[in-house]
Amino acid sequence: MAQKWAVLAVLLFLPVNLAEAQNRVSVEAGHEAVLSCPNISKVHFLLVTWKRNCSSCCVLSYRRDHNKTSRLNCSERITWKYSLDSDPALRIFPVNLGDEGNYTCEAVNSEGNFLFFSSLTVIVPPTVTLAHDKSRVAVCQASAGKPPADISWIPASNHSSEEEFHHPNGTVTRVSYFGWTNSSFPSVTCLVTHPAMNQTLVVDLRCAETKTYKFPPSRVRRGAVKPPDIPEKIYENYSPRSVYVCL
Ligand SMILES: *[C@@H]1O[C@H](CO)[C@@H](O)[C@H](O)[C@H]1NC(C)=O
Ligand SMILES: *[C@@H]1O[C@H](CO)[C@@H](O)[C@H](O)[C@H]1NC(C)=O
Ligand SMILES: *[C@@H]1O[C@H](CO)[C@@H](O)[C@H](O)[C@H]1NC(C)=O
Ligand SMILES: *[C@@H]1O[C@H](CO)[C@@H](O)[C@H](O)[C@H]1NC(C)=O
Ligand SMILES: *[C@@H]1O[C@H](CO)[C@@H](O)[C@H](O)[C@H]1NC(C)=O
Ligand SMILES: *[C@@H]1O[C@H](CO)[C@@H](O)[C@H](O)[C@H]1NC(C)=O
Ligand SMILES: *[C@@H]1O[C@H](CO)[C@@H](O)[C@H](O)[C@H]1NC(C)=O
Ligand SMILES: *[C@@H]1O[C@H](CO)[C@@H](O)[C@H](O)[C@H]1NC(C)=O
Ligand SMILES: *[C@@H]1O[C@H](CO)[C@@H](O)[C@H](O)[C@H]1NC(C)=O
Repeated sequence: MAQKWAVLAVLLFLPVNLAEAQNRVSVEAGHEAVLSCPNISKVHFLLVTWKRNCSSCCVLSYRRDHNKTSRLNCSERITWKYSLDSDPALRIFPVNLGDEGNYTCEAVNSEGNFLFFSSLTVIVPPTVTLAHDKSRVAVCQASAGKPPADISWIPASNHSSEEEFHHPNGTVTRVSYFGWTNSSFPSVTCLVTHPAMNQTLVVDLRCAETKTYKFPPSRVRRGAVKPPDIPEKIYENYSPRSVYVCL
């Protein structure tokens, strides 16, 4: 027993073999993140430790000689992905925005210490809505996306404008306004592109002609404090790629 500790202590103080590597992982919130700690050595590891690069964050480690995992401040969402005999990859499921950050895997074997860095980015698809108001302005909104979604219109318009709202959790809402006064086009299309999703929404302007909605005038002013709450929510992350609406 004491011998084993001595061996381990010696191993821990071996010079670090800077077999360092970087790994970037991008995962959608709610999904599974797997951070790998590749087998760089031919020799079995004796101790493997996953740490998140922040104070009082999770530390997950496994000692092969004791066949024992220890967890320090780790949520139950953080576990080993596989059986430890084969691969000490880390699994986080379901991932949330707070998991974003830098993680280090340190594997110790008789050849030294091996460090492997992983950077985890959590992305969030926005909620997309399209509405229009009486003053012939179509409003396309991509709410709480991370990174921010890009909004564009077909036909391209020089009468469109955009607002952006940053939320404390790191997500961003973007709202784009498209004025179609004097437009001869039968419809306008709002394109929302984001790493987690792409969506196309179409307003048919011919039927929009006949309907009237009361929107507070502030709706079309720039620099509002919070994103508009559009009552005529006609579309919300619905599965078809393209949706035609008559408002
Ligand atoms: C890692 O190396 C050990 C020792 O050679 C081997 O037994 C194990 O199968 C390897 N694991 C992977 C995932 O290659
Ligand atoms: C976090 O990483 C930075 C560099 O990427 C390093 O300087 C710092 O010491 C690390 N902090 C912890 C707590 O590991
Ligand atoms: C574990 O978390 C608690 C509260 O989040 C913190 O006070 C404590 O210092 C952490 N422990 C370690 C060893 O980081
Ligand atoms: C390690 O312990 C687990 C249960 O905690 C057991 O299923 C596994 O067979 C053990 N592995 C070895 C190599 O003893
Ligand atoms: C992760 O590390 C990179 C550089 O190594 C640094 O730019 C970034 O700010 C770190 N992220 C966090 C959340 O600490
Ligand atoms: C807007 O578009 C019209 C025709 O499409 C063009 O005549 C006008 O110069 C454009 N205005 C600006 C500011 O680009
Ligand atoms: C982020 O904050 C916004 C605004 O408070 C909220 O609507 C959204 O659901 C939050 N997203 C996540 C993933 O927590
Ligand atoms: C739209 O057309 C009307 C007349 O048809 C004209 O008075 C007005 O200036 C036009 N508006 C724009 C923005 O082109
Ligand atoms: C969204 O569209 C772009 C360009 O058309 C494409 O490169 C990307 O893979 C698409 N992303 C998704 C999640 O469908």
